Amino acid sequence: MTEQLAKDHWRVGGNTVPEVEDYLYAMLPARDEVLAEMEVYAGKNDVAIVGPAVARVLHQLATISGAKKIFEMGSAIGYSTIWWARAVGEGGRVVYTDGDPKRAEKARRYFDRAGVSRRITVRVGDALEFLSEEKETYDIIFNDVDKIDYPRVFRLALPRLKSGGLFITDNVLWSGRVTKPNPDATTKAILEFNQLIYASPDLFTTNLAHPRWSFRLREEVGDRVVG
Ligand SMILES: C[S@@+](CC[C@H](N)C(=O)[O-])C[C@H]1O[C@@H](n2cnc3c(N)ncnc32)[C@H](O)[C@@H]1O
Repeated sequence: MTEQLAKDHWRVGGNTVPEVEDYLYAMLPARDEVLAEMEVYAGKNDVAIVGPAVARVLHQLATISGAKKIFEMGSAIGYSTIWWARAVGEGGRVVYTDGDPKRAEKARRYFDRAGVSRRITVRVGDALEFLSEEKETYDIIFNDVDKIDYPRVFRLALPRLKSGGLFITDNVLWSGRVTKPNPDATTKAILEFNQLIYASPDLFTTNLAHPRWSFRLREEVGDRVVG
């Protein structure tokens, strides 16, 4: 830690030691049968999912902001999609996107069993292409595609985000790799993305140790969102 940073007494340290993490995960309420099965499947089959702690943050952000239309980029077997679908409630809509048809097929079956199929539109292919073709705007755009594409996602997502909407991106610290010397192409893309979202005059960006979300400022009541 540099001398300057050491002086910043407001820095919160030691929050992610394994014991604390275990404690936090142990407190999470049990998930229903479908989500619990998906968590096991993801673990066994190496599918990266947000997991239940982050999923609760996503759910909460959607309900607090009253989101009804969500565009998810990179949905895999649909774990985060189900959390979104439950958060938007009856009448809400979530767009699922993934480039892998097998994962999409699996996701469809989970959606049926979870009773949320009617709220979800499944699109198989390139999420960036789908978003660029979109005519509608969304309350939330959730970015969980390949990290190399993050800067492109930033440019595509902003015009498709409603004023006051949330642009949420997963894994922007890349397990700490953003701080290491000689970043590879993927890490460079994340570093560029992080610069873009903090520098953007259209966003108010914050970082939650795991997910990142950005508030797109309402032109007319900007400071309400900031506050
Ligand atoms: C980290 S997983 C998504 C996990 C999911 N959001 C969850 O938490 O349950 C990333 C997924 O994005 C998909 N993907 C990556 N780049 C993509 C792209 N450009 N278009 C569509 N899908 C993409 C991959 O096939 C993979 O299934």
